[in-house]
Amino acid sequence: MFVTAHDGTIRPVAGETGLSVMEIIRGAGIEELPALCGGCCSCATCHVHVAPQWFDRLPAMSDDESALLDEAVDRTGLSRLSCQIRFSDALDGLEVAVARME
Ligand code: FES
Repeated sequence: MFVTAHDGTIRPVAGETGLSVMEIIRGAGIEELPALCGGCCSCATCHVHVAPQWFDRLPAMSDDESALLDEAVDRTGLSRLSCQIRFSDALDGLEVAVARME
């Protein structure tokens, strides 16, 4: 998958089926995505913007995820919490950008 940092740099990151997109980004050492709650869907610091061509291919958003995103800065129509997206072969090539947290 491809991860865009705040400075616009695009990093290719190897995905791993079964891990969350958050875990993959963190595992690649991308510190801009703190993911403070560790994936419990309670912090919104794993917020990403998904490339439009990928957004509709993701699993549906839960009410909890949507409620948490309502409190995040910089929510857009392409926002997701990366800890709630389980990576799979179907997401090979996924493009996300780390959202601003403040
Ligand atoms: S890591 Fe906290 S909500 Fe995703």
